[in-house]
Amino acid sequence: MFEELDAVRKECENCQKCALGKTRTKIVFSAGTPNNKIMLIGEAPGFNEDQTGESFVGRAGQLLDKIFESVGFSRKTNVYICNTIKCRPPNNRDPLPEEKTACRPYLDKQLEILKPKIILLCGKVALTSFLDTNQGITKLRGKWFDGPYGSKMMPIFHPAYLLRNQSRAEGSPKWLMWQDIQEVRRMYDSLSE
Ligand code: URA
Repeated sequence: MFEELDAVRKECENCQKCALGKTRTKIVFSAGTPNNKIMLIGEAPGFNEDQTGESFVGRAGQLLDKIFESVGFSRKTNVYICNTIKCRPPNNRDPLPEEKTACRPYLDKQLEILKPKIILLCGKVALTSFLDTNQGITKLRGKWFDGPYGSKMMPIFHPAYLLRNQSRAEGSPKWLMWQDIQEVRRMYDSLSE
């Protein structure tokens, strides 16, 4: 599994399939531990990720870690993290359709190698990459969908959105995220039985 992932990473390092190949500092292949439990798919690398080559290392990533830790998940044990694209879009704009299309085979290979039981679609860009719907993240978060390789797939809010919405009141985005991650824990436990 590690060698297979490494081979895909090497392909990405040489990739010039879209214009982001010219502007990136580093490709951002993944973070966390390769495993068949939980894969979180975010949007795209930001400034810190482009510099370090690791997904979700900025403020949003730190919040994500806290959310995982609240239910006993962690990058060190059962979470593997990647994004819909491997290179940072200039000024952190949303990935363009052609960038997502060019990059998708790499993500598909990661999915094929790991076959995660649970896939978390983090934010609207990941949501629309996997679900053909015109319903937004606010409607679909917290719901389970059937994903690739028999996985269970759930859209969740992006942590950057939670950083902009600090309230913890019942019904607030942070409160909803807390419900969702607990539901993910329940599904994780039922799949491991
Ligand atoms: N936001 C994302 O969606 N992905 C990252 O890797 C970092 C920030």
